[in-house]
Amino acid sequence: MIIQPRTRGFICLTAHPDGALQAVKNQIEYVKSKGAIKNGPKKVLVIGASTGFGLSSRITAAFGSDAATVGVFFEKPASEGKMGTAGWYNSAAFEKEAHEAGLYAKSINGDAFSDDIKKQTIELIKKDLGQVDLVVYSLASPRRTHPKTGVAHSSVLKPIGQAYTNKTVDFHTGVVSDVTIAPVENEEDIPNTVAVMGGEDWKFWMEDLKAAGVLADGVQTVAYSYIGPELTFPIYRNGTIGQAKNDLEATVTVLNDLLKDLNGKSYVSVNKALVTQSSSAIPVVPLYISLLYKVMKAKGTHEGTIEQIQRLFADRLYTENGEVPLDEAGRIRVDDWEMADDVQAEVDKLWKETTTENLSEISDIAGYRKEFFNLFGFEVDGIDYEKDANENVQVPSIE
Ligand code: NAD
Ligand code: NA
Repeated sequence: MIIQPRTRGFICLTAHPDGALQAVKNQIEYVKSKGAIKNGPKKVLVIGASTGFGLSSRITAAFGSDAATVGVFFEKPASEGKMGTAGWYNSAAFEKEAHEAGLYAKSINGDAFSDDIKKQTIELIKKDLGQVDLVVYSLASPRRTHPKTGVAHSSVLKPIGQAYTNKTVDFHTGVVSDVTIAPVENEEDIPNTVAVMGGEDWKFWMEDLKAAGVLADGVQTVAYSYIGPELTFPIYRNGTIGQAKNDLEATVTVLNDLLKDLNGKSYVSVNKALVTQSSSAIPVVPLYISLLYKVMKAKGTHEGTIEQIQRLFADRLYTENGEVPLDEAGRIRVDDWEMADDVQAEVDKLWKETTTENLSEISDIAGYRKEFFNLFGFEVDGIDYEKDANENVQVPSIE
């Protein structure tokens, strides 16, 4: 079957297995080109391992440090005339490449928020690896069914207090317009968003893993956060999602206590704004990313998820002297190049000038679009999209 992209808003309904394989191979090649990560992790659990930062974390651990990896994600294989999801094809590609390289890689497909998937994961670690020395927590989800109460929480992306008006772009059409986002009115919206994207589930994972005895002495765990520029504060850092990120960051202290007797450490890494399935859903942010990419590419400081995570492992989590550089709030910062004063000053200036008419000239909207399609295996260089795709692709470790 010939597979073409089919989009609805910021969602792409189809995915291309051969493009996904090539994109995963490209990430692997990048990690290998950077050389071995000294003192890197050996047995790694990645929660949210199929796309975005989590997939890059799994690739970096495996191909930068020869690590055995267990990946947890929520994806769909192909079924009766329907394509599988991008994360399914990515994971099939990752396992294929890892196994060919002689690396252990197994995956668990299901709801990571549930007690059952935690239990299955622990059983797999016990059986195959004994213990893990790194746990990466990289879930991004619009909803979570709470495992203890059964309540289904939905997150919202809204400002708090007052409405927020700014520019936004429809990245398919290139039309720039003003958007006004009303503030939260339902008082449950904030706690619901915190329940989905805050730190409680990360804590539940670490508590269960510890209680089962599957965390190695000196274990590290890292989750991902975002801050960004002032212009997106009302919708991001000071909005509902920012409340969840505050909660996630506060969980570091709780986990450091939990892991103390294992000489373990917990971190939040603040990462750069990048095109992923999650970030394309946030208003205003895609326009900011398009301008940011333009400025950072011109300066030679642009990074994608794989460059970010390779740097996180090599220059932050696994440094030569074993010290992890942190900011004044105790966070790892690999958004440092994004937040550099000269970068932000240029983005600010371009932001004020941006219109539909000059968008393709002053922003990297073309790069944004290409990366968006790349997430789904489309527009990947070297793939012939007129050819029949390899449809029936399986993740080898999943029956
Ligand atoms: P993503 O959408 O690419 O990845 C989300 C992952 O979570 C996928 O592997 C998906 O399968 C998995 N997942 C979602 N719900 C699940 C469930 N119920 N059970 C099991 N797996 C589930 O997202 P991303 O952009 O890589 O985000 C990962 C983290 O990085 C998030 O905390 C996000 O806030 C953070 N972050 C993102 C950006 C950015 O610009 N994209 C920047 C900084 C930090
Ligand atoms: Na991820």
